[in-house]
Amino acid sequence: MKIEKSIRCQDLFNNALVCSLGPIILGYCDEKVDAAVRRQMEKGVIFSMASDLELEAAETLLSIFHGFGWVRFLKTGGDACSAACRVARAITGRNLILTEGYHGWHDTFFAVQQGNGVPESIRQVSKFVSTKSLAEVSESIVPHLNQAAAVIISPEYGRGEIYRYLSEKCHQTGALLIFDEVVTGCRVSLGGVQELERVRCDMVVMAKAIANGYPVSAIVGKEELRSAFDQTIITMTHGGETLSMAALVATITKLKHEKVLERIAERGRHLMAETNRLFKDFGLPLAVEGFPAMMTVIIKETGNNWLREALSQQLLSKGVFERSRWFLCDAHREAEIDKVLSAVEAALKVIKRSGID
Ligand SMILES: Cc1ncc(COP(=O)(O)O)c(C=O)c1O
Repeated sequence: MKIEKSIRCQDLFNNALVCSLGPIILGYCDEKVDAAVRRQMEKGVIFSMASDLELEAAETLLSIFHGFGWVRFLKTGGDACSAACRVARAITGRNLILTEGYHGWHDTFFAVQQGNGVPESIRQVSKFVSTKSLAEVSESIVPHLNQAAAVIISPEYGRGEIYRYLSEKCHQTGALLIFDEVVTGCRVSLGGVQELERVRCDMVVMAKAIANGYPVSAIVGKEELRSAFDQTIITMTHGGETLSMAALVATITKLKHEKVLERIAERGRHLMAETNRLFKDFGLPLAVEGFPAMMTVIIKETGNNWLREALSQQLLSKGVFERSRWFLCDAHREAEIDKVLSAVEAALKVIKRSGID
């Protein structure tokens, strides 16, 4: 019975806007990616030294992250963010990390959240900052940059000008700028937000969409930071595990040569425009905004959180599984987008009738 249920999850995928919280960019069980993994499985999964495939994977990543000189593969987004902070500390000789949000469960980042289980000494060298506006960057970040090893942020939609200003300030003060593109890398554009918004970063971390769901993360860094690896060690037994390397090369090759992200963006723009039209037509204080490949439904009036929950429940009852963010993948064709829009309309009718708004 349980197995049947998990198989049905795959049937549902075309309607699901979760895409496994981001990694699925082509669609579940993509034929080319899975075939590449099967071919590699015949040859072996892990070797004692770096494989040719790891080199090919690194070259593939560097072919889309222009201006970067090296790659280090790890397994999770949190590992890679943590490793990038270590590199920054090794290079600058400073300890302080300025961080805006969630970059994994690791001590450096959890220190600025609830912090339970994180030693006080680590809390002293992690500081929460905000990049919501130029003023907040000036107030919460700039005064600390002379002491900071790095600022690490997950770039949000529409903040290009703020990030370019931040980058300039970082470079004036010797603090490194790390873009956590665990979610946005190879999704909002091949090279992520740093490419879209032309922001000069010292390191970029990515994970989710780079291998269509196979477990691998990566840091790309500026050539001049390579010497960090003479001063610190970042290594991992399964870092270059070849099934994920094969998946990464196949995924990025497809993204590069088959206009996948362009298609996703076009359908995303349509979904966003039509959903916003429906919200407006029904007179509900909801809006969907963000990147076309990963958008967020927001409530425009405070004190009405039930409305968001009600939308979620109604959509689920109509076969559309979604969470706070709507992720799209290439398997969401026009038919799937139409199904989502019909479900949104049906959900809004129920909500309007029930008077929740
Ligand atoms: C922006 C961001 N950074 C880092 C992470 C951590 O990635 P992982 O779960 O692969 O460790 C996440 C996870 O959702 C994330 O959203």
